Amino acid sequence: MNMMTESRKPALIDRFGRHVTYVRMSVTDRCDFRCVYCMDEKMTFVPREQLLTLEEMGRLGRAFVKLGVHKIRLTGGEPLTRRNVMQLFNELGQLEDLRDFTLTTNGSQLPKYAQQLKVAGVTRINISLDTLDAERFRSLTRIGQIEQTLNGIDAALAAGFERIKLNAVILKNRNHDEIIPLVQFAYDKGIDISFIEEMPLGVITEHDRAEAYYSSDEILRDLRTQFELAPIAVNTGGPSKYYQSPGSKSRVGFISPHSHNFCDDCNRVRVTAEGRLLLCLGQEHSMDLRRVLRAHPLDEAPLLAAIQEAMSLKPKGHEFDLKAKPILFRHMNATGG
Ligand code: 5AD
Ligand code: SF4
Repeated sequence: MNMMTESRKPALIDRFGRHVTYVRMSVTDRCDFRCVYCMDEKMTFVPREQLLTLEEMGRLGRAFVKLGVHKIRLTGGEPLTRRNVMQLFNELGQLEDLRDFTLTTNGSQLPKYAQQLKVAGVTRINISLDTLDAERFRSLTRIGQIEQTLNGIDAALAAGFERIKLNAVILKNRNHDEIIPLVQFAYDKGIDISFIEEMPLGVITEHDRAEAYYSSDEILRDLRTQFELAPIAVNTGGPSKYYQSPGSKSRVGFISPHSHNFCDDCNRVRVTAEGRLLLCLGQEHSMDLRRVLRAHPLDEAPLLAAIQEAMSLKPKGHEFDLKAKPILFRHMNATGG
């Protein structure tokens, strides 16, 4: 080995030459809401003893960063419902080579945690909000109250994160008429918003996903009746494609798994709350990292080797088909949104 290769940091590269630099870790599959596109009405959650401990998640985060990962997103379920979760945020926030430390949340616990998250080193937060109407919010989340999320957004604003982004899943005849008010709300608050096409993850009985499909192109068309929107070249390391209105600092993003496949430049993997490394959102290829963590509690080498080996399992892309039966049994809450 020459000096060059020796001094270079190890990197995670898959069979298609894609560099994995971004990990989304689910810290729990539980949630204080039950969004209709994410969960079925009756859900069975993972028994607590099967979850990774927060210490194990910390070890995993450190291992990924050693392997060249520079962005970690903690997600769920609702990550802020996990007991003592700040311990994990505080630990990962200390990692020097982590450039971007982000969180996806429904906002309900932000009044309690926003300030502490900022201090821990969280740079950006994504908050899910699909409607501005209290009744609809209740029906889309089944048990949530809109004030919880609205108060959470204000708490995040007060804490002063680099950026805050709303995530809205748009369902036809459910909330597609709120696209313009949602963007206006983001503009008024000075924050970003991304629209997400619903993905067929897990069986849900509440609605027909093919019928509820509302494409990013339709959303953009609707928005352009009200706002001037031009594509911008910004890339935040995820699948969103962004647009902006002149004079506004807010960005409007589109996550379009159906209409604009984003797999070619995929840079990310996910870890479920049980420690299963998922190589693709839409496929089952995975590796059990919990087994490796528990077999070698004091030795990092087998963990690093297992993660590197798993890269060869990363498939070319998802094959979502809204008209077919879901090929994936895991719901988004078990996947790490
Ligand atoms: N398809 C698309 N987005 C989903 N989310 C949850 N389930 C689905 C799904 N089936 C969204 C949540 C949240 C983000 C983590 O993923 O609304 O914003
Ligand atoms: Fe909870 Fe988020 Fe799933 Fe809604 S989408 S049930 S807030 S994990």
